[in-house]
Amino acid sequence: MDGKRVLLIVSGGIAAYKCPDLVRRLRERGTLVRCLLTQGGAEFVTALALQAVSEEKVYQNLFSLTDENEMGHIRLSRESDLILIAPATANIIAKMAHGQADDLATTAILASDKPVFIAPAMNHYMYNHPATQANLALLIARGVTVIGPEEGNMACREFGMGRMSEPLEIVAKLDSFFATNLPLKGKRALVTSGPTFEAIDPVRFIGNRSSGKQGHAIARALAALGCQTTLISGPTQQTDPIGVCVVHVESAREMLSACETALPADIAVCAAAVSDWRAKSEVGSKIKKAAGAAPPNLKLTDNPDILATLSQLVIKRPELVVGFAAETDDVISNATSKRKRKECDWIIANDVSPHTGTFNGDANKVHLITSGGVENWPKMSKIKVGEKLAERITAHFGDAS
Ligand code: C5P
Repeated sequence: MDGKRVLLIVSGGIAAYKCPDLVRRLRERGTLVRCLLTQGGAEFVTALALQAVSEEKVYQNLFSLTDENEMGHIRLSRESDLILIAPATANIIAKMAHGQADDLATTAILASDKPVFIAPAMNHYMYNHPATQANLALLIARGVTVIGPEEGNMACREFGMGRMSEPLEIVAKLDSFFATNLPLKGKRALVTSGPTFEAIDPVRFIGNRSSGKQGHAIARALAALGCQTTLISGPTQQTDPIGVCVVHVESAREMLSACETALPADIAVCAAAVSDWRAKSEVGSKIKKAAGAAPPNLKLTDNPDILATLSQLVIKRPELVVGFAAETDDVISNATSKRKRKECDWIIANDVSPHTGTFNGDANKVHLITSGGVENWPKMSKIKVGEKLAERITAHFGDAS
């Protein structure tokens, strides 16, 4: 990042208190940081503090003659390699999504042709509000990179998703963006991982034993090669991989909708063990067990097939769609016909018979099936399978370009 110029826009959230540290961390890596403070941002952190750590003038006013004289909004964005908005409040995200330009920050963003990164920070209800989610989806579709947010305790004493990522995490994201030798830089991937839980009633669900280890390892490996990766994870015990945008879901229908939101993508890897069925009618209150009564009849209905849906998209189909085939018999022939039936490009077949210990284990023995034939990979850790797949994907794009 040595010599790179970052325009840091600080909008009005309590997480702005982390910004002097963020500036310091960026500067430690040789980055030149110029700060732009919104009116709200200035309520949480002073221009003086940002100026002291950045050793640069801090810009605040769209109509200030002095600021315009020294550095107009156009120059502010032109003279940077990247714009980072941290913290990005729900308000500035909404303004960006709708192209508003009513202050120096939003005007500089709109006038920019530079890559834009945002680190959202807000109360979890604000973050989960459909309006904020729709605005974020719009920005992602336009190529904005979203860092975080994280789940945790918030300044408002509530717990949830909406804490700004830590400065070091943000710096790591920019670091990998600026790294020039990452082969999947500029590519976007979505990866599904883990099981899905299909509610029967508020306390019971249909689920499976998938640990999410393989899907998470793939997402981590793709991100490490510079791929902008969204991991759509069912309920698992895995920690969110650093440098990956993680969307947590429960059901297959939520997983599909999160996948659609993550499009466009160049690569889709469907590693999740999606429940094939869900209860036909989810009951709103707990089904009671009456003494002597027969057990309830559970009627099931089909879940959407995410892999087939993504593979068969006419618009926005990822260039490379990779599926998994967990089989217990005739592993390769079943997986080969699954590849054809679902219309994905590659399928990774693995034997999940109980004696293999694949489900929930740390190792995997897989076969990669492509239109060119079958590659038998030796048994290796799921982390290694992730890395090998990411390398194979890199080679595919290398060959294709
Ligand atoms: O049909 P089957 O479940 O064996 O197919 C496995 C592959 O299909 C995996 O890649 C899995 O992620 C994907 N799949 C899916 N949606 C479903 C069922 C499976 O994406 N509803």
